[in-house]
Amino acid sequence: MEGFRQGMQRLILHGGAGSIPSSRAPEVERGLRAALESGWSRMDHATDAVEAAIQSMEGSGIFDAGLGSVLNLKGRVEMDAALMTHELEVGAVAGLTRTAHPIAVARQVMEKTPHVLLAGPGADRFARALGFPPVRIRPPRRVAVYQDLRRRLEASVASRGKANDRDPMDPARPDWWPRLQSLVSEHPELLHGTVGAVALDAQGRLTAGTSTGGITLKMEGRVSDSCLPGCGTYADRTVGVSCTGTGEVIIRHTLARSVAETLRTSGLTLDQAVRRALRPLPRGTAGLIALDRKGHFGWGRNTENLAFAFRSDRSSSPVFRMA
Ligand code: GLY
Repeated sequence: MEGFRQGMQRLILHGGAGSIPSSRAPEVERGLRAALESGWSRMDHATDAVEAAIQSMEGSGIFDAGLGSVLNLKGRVEMDAALMTHELEVGAVAGLTRTAHPIAVARQVMEKTPHVLLAGPGADRFARALGFPPVRIRPPRRVAVYQDLRRRLEASVASRGKANDRDPMDPARPDWWPRLQSLVSEHPELLHGTVGAVALDAQGRLTAGTSTGGITLKMEGRVSDSCLPGCGTYADRTVGVSCTGTGEVIIRHTLARSVAETLRTSGLTLDQAVRRALRPLPRGTAGLIALDRKGHFGWGRNTENLAFAFRSDRSSSPVFRMA
């Protein structure tokens, strides 16, 4: 395989893009540091490393994934995740409600079923059938943000003379829905927190994975880019990519696959390919990490921040960045 050197080991991970307040930087770095350690201890296999790194972030409560997931418009958690390998094996889940580690369920979809993506109640039942314990996920700080934004949503609709206490998901209340979009764009900090990882192991296996609780106040049933192959998560024989940011934009641009196509067809370096793939996206919408089969790391963002970390067998010290 061109450029691949047997024995190389690389791991890169992210803890989300958006606007990360400096007061949160220490805990984000702590979460990334622990995840890098967990992933690096499983580098015998790229998929194990990615799963371990993401499980660490899902379990930390720091990021918008797993136990730290944000709440949807109804005040409930719906989590998405995907894993993909360079052999185009892929497993994904959407709308999981009671599982601490969606990335582990996504892996089971990949390894145990003939399908790619399980969603909603079927995904929850699949998790239970495989023995993943049901967990009530309601992080207090996510609840506080939810209550504040929900009040503002109600007030802004009320100011236009249309509020009542009916179910906001009632199809008779579509006036709520466009307001959600503007509320989220007024609060870029809401974007932060999706997690992802890409690993290359000594046998040349490349795996990418992403996990998210999505966007605060999202509509019930909304599916993110993170669990959609080619959108928020992608791997092939050239490169692995994990994205973070506004799912709707990332999906429209099939961003992860776009990095891979650009790299494969343009002769650009990985960094240049990342920049080119991000160029058509509106400002403030996305960030990503990438790792190619030659062992090059890549990252990029059009948001204020991207929190990421990486480690290579060529250096004993990991690198942390809040770019
Ligand atoms: N990129 C994560 C989301 O849109 O939910």
